[in-house]
Amino acid sequence: MPTPPRTPERKLPSVFYNLRSMIGAWISGVSLIAILFLMLVELTSNQENPYSGILTFVIMPIFLLGGLGLIALGAIREHQRRKHDLPPSRQSPVLDMNIERHRRIATIVAGGSILFLALSSYGAFKAYEYTETNAFCGQICHQVMNPEYTAYQASPHARVKCVECHIGSGAKWFVKSKISGSYQVYSVLAQKYPKPIPTPVSNLRPSRDTCERCHWPEKFYTDKMSSRHYYLADEDNTHMRLDMVMHIGGGAMGQLGPAKGIHWHMNIANEIEYVASDERRQEIPWVRITRPDGSVSVYIDEDSDFDPDADLDGAEVRKMDCIDCHNRPSHNYQTPMRLVNGALSRGEIDRSLPWVKSLAMQALDGDYNTVDEAMQGIEKTLQEEYQDEDFYPEKKAAIADAVEALRALYKRNYFPEMGVSWREFPNNLGHLTSSGCFRCHDGMHVDDQGDTITRDCSTCHTFLAEQVGADPAAFAMNGVDYRHPEDIDGMWRETDCTECHAP
Ligand code: HEC
Ligand code: HEC
Ligand code: HEC
Ligand code: HEC
Ligand code: HEC
Ligand code: HEC
Repeated sequence: MPTPPRTPERKLPSVFYNLRSMIGAWISGVSLIAILFLMLVELTSNQENPYSGILTFVIMPIFLLGGLGLIALGAIREHQRRKHDLPPSRQSPVLDMNIERHRRIATIVAGGSILFLALSSYGAFKAYEYTETNAFCGQICHQVMNPEYTAYQASPHARVKCVECHIGSGAKWFVKSKISGSYQVYSVLAQKYPKPIPTPVSNLRPSRDTCERCHWPEKFYTDKMSSRHYYLADEDNTHMRLDMVMHIGGGAMGQLGPAKGIHWHMNIANEIEYVASDERRQEIPWVRITRPDGSVSVYIDEDSDFDPDADLDGAEVRKMDCIDCHNRPSHNYQTPMRLVNGALSRGEIDRSLPWVKSLAMQALDGDYNTVDEAMQGIEKTLQEEYQDEDFYPEKKAAIADAVEALRALYKRNYFPEMGVSWREFPNNLGHLTSSGCFRCHDGMHVDDQGDTITRDCSTCHTFLAEQVGADPAAFAMNGVDYRHPEDIDGMWRETDCTECHAP
C-alpha cells in the first residue's frame, strides 16, 4: 500500500487547485519563458529581421493568454462546484517516479509537450511567412488587390516584395500592419471594402524605413536625359519628339555634390513641411521650408482661402518624403496618352491608320462597367470607324492587331470592377494630367516677402530639342524655349497644364 500523498502547503486560494488551472499555469509558464527568451535573442542580435516580431509578440502571447484563460476558467468552475455543494474536483494526478508506469507517462507527456510546442511554433511561423509572400498579398484577395498586383508586376519594383514597402522590418510596424491587415481580411470576406481601395495609405511607413533602405538618398546627384515620343491627335498622327534633361539633383550638402535640383527636397539639408486641404493631398495651400542656416519661409496659396491663424490649428503638418512625389512607384496606372504613344512607337498600332491616335485613346477611355464590356467596346470603336473605308480590306489585319494591343493595355491599366484607373490614382511625378509638382510650384504660393515657389520651366528640366512632324528640330545645349505641340497661344505659360489635360 503506497502512503497517501501529503497535501503541500497552499499559497493561493484553494479554488486554483484543480486540473484545468494547473494545465493553464503550465502552458502560460512555458510561453512566458519562451517570450523572455525570444526578447533576449532580439535584444542581443544586431541583425534586424522583419520576421522576428511575430513569435515574440503575436504567437507566444496567444499561448500565454490561452493559459491564463484556462487558469481562470478552472477557478470559476471550481467555485461553482463548491457553491452547489459538489465535492471539490480531483486534484493534480499523483505522480511517483519510483513507479515505472508513472515514469513512462511523465516521459511521454513531457516529450509530447515539447514536440507540440515546437511543431505549433513552426507551423505558426510558416503561416506567418506565407502572409508575407506576394502570393498572399496580391492573389488571395484576388479581385480586391488585382489592380495593385497587376500594375506592380509591370513596375521597376516587380521583384521587391509587397511587405518591403508596405511594412518594412521591426515589430511595431509588423503588429500595426497585421492588425489593420486582419481587419482587411475581415472586410474582404464580409464584402465591406471600399472600391477603389482608398489612397493615400493612411499609416504607410515613412519612406526612410522603406525606400531609403535600398535607395541611398545621399547618392543622387546627376542630371538625366529623357527622350519622349508623342503622336498628336490629328489625321496623320503626327510624330513629335522632345528631348529633355531632368535635373535629378541631390539632397545632401557636400559629399556627393551640392543639394540642388529635384532631390533638393529630400529633407537632408532642407526640410519641407506642408498642409493638404484634401484627403488625397492634391491641394496644398500651406508650405514651410527650413533651410540649413535655420531660416524659415512659409508660402501660402493665394488662390485658396487658407487662413493660417485659423486653419493651421489641428491640421496635419506633413514632412515631405519620397512618397509625396513618388506616390506610384509600384502601382502606376498609365494615362491613355502614354499608353497609345507607347504602342504607336513600338509599332503595335499601325501609324498609317488615319486618326488612330485619337481613336485609340477614346477606345481605351470609354465608359465601361466590366473588362468584358471594354474588350467589346474597344473593338467596336475601331471597327465602326474603319469598316466602311476604302483601305479596310488592306488594313484589316493591322486593325485587328491594334484592337489586340489596346485590349492588352486596357487589362493592365484599367480595373472597372474595382473602380481603378489613372483618373482615380493620379501620379504626383509631373504636372500634366494631375497637379503633381504644381501643387506647390504653380506660381501662386507666396511668402511674406512676396517671393513665390518657382514655376520656371527650367528649374526642373531643360528642353534640349523639340521636333514636331517634319519641322526642323529646334536644338540648343543650353535649352530651347518650350513649344506646345498644339498652337494654344502660349497659354501654357500661365495656365496649368491640368486645365486642359486632366481627366
Ligand atoms: C516600391 C514600393 C512598393 C511595393 C513593392 C508595393 N507597394 Fe503598394 N503602394 C506603394 C505606395 C508608395 C503606395 C501609395 C501610398 C500613398 O500614396 O500613400 C501604395 C499603395 C498600395 C495600395 C493602396 C491603393 C493605391 O493604389 O494607392 C494597395 C492596396 C497596395 N499598395 C498593395 C500592394 C501589393 C498587394 C503589393 C505587392 C504585390 C504592393 N502594394 C507592393 C508602394 C509599394
Ligand atoms: C528592396 C529594394 C527597393 C525598395 C524597398 C525600393 N526600391 Fe526603388 N528601385 C529598386 C531597384 C533595384 C530599382 C531599379 C530597377 C530597374 O532599374 O529596373 C529601383 C528603381 C526605382 C526608381 C526608378 C524607376 C524607373 O522607372 O527608372 C524609383 C523612382 C524608385 N525606385 C523609387 C522608390 C520608392 C519611392 C520606394 C519606396 C516607396 C522604393 N523605390 C523602394 C529597389 C528598391
Ligand atoms: C520633389 C519630388 C521628389 C522627391 C521628394 C523625391 N523624388 Fe525621386 N525623383 C523625382 C523626379 C521628378 C524624378 C525624375 C523622374 C523622371 O525622370 O521622369 C526622380 C527620380 C528618382 C529616381 C531615378 C533616378 C535616376 O537617376 O534615374 C529614383 C531612384 C528616385 N527618384 C528615388 C527617390 C527616393 C528614394 C526619394 C526619397 C528619399 C525621392 N526620390 C524623393 C522627384 C522626387
Ligand atoms: C509640398 C510642396 C512642394 C511640392 C509638391 C514640390 N515642391 Fe519643389 N520646392 C518646394 C519648395 C518650398 C521649394 C523651395 C523654394 C525656394 O527656396 O524658393 C522647392 C524647390 C524646388 C527646386 C529647386 C531646388 C534648388 O535647386 O534650389 C526644384 C528643382 C524642385 N522644387 C522640383 C520639384 C519637382 C520636380 C516636384 C514634383 C515632382 C516638386 N518640386 C514638388 C516645394 C514643393
Ligand atoms: C517643379 C518642377 C517643374 C516645373 C516648374 C515644370 N516642370 Fe515640366 N515636368 C516636371 C517633371 C518632374 C516632369 C516629368 C514627369 C514624368 O516623368 O512623367 C515634367 C514633364 C514635362 C513634360 C513632358 C510631359 C509628359 O508627360 O511627357 C513637358 C512637356 C513639360 N514638363 C513642360 C513644362 C513646361 C512648359 C513648364 C513651364 C511652364 C514646366 N514643365 C515646368 C517638372 C516640372
Ligand atoms: C488650353 C489648353 C491646354 C493647355 C493649358 C495645355 N495644353 Fe497641352 N495640349 C492641348 C491640346 C488641345 C493638345 C492636342 C491634343 C493632341 O494632339 O493630342 C495638347 C497636346 C499636348 C501634348 C501631346 C499629347 C499627346 O497626346 O501625345 C503634350 C505633351 C502637351 N500638350 C503638354 C502640355 C504641357 C506640359 C502643358 C502645361 C505646361 C500643356 N500641355 C498645357 C491643350 C492644352
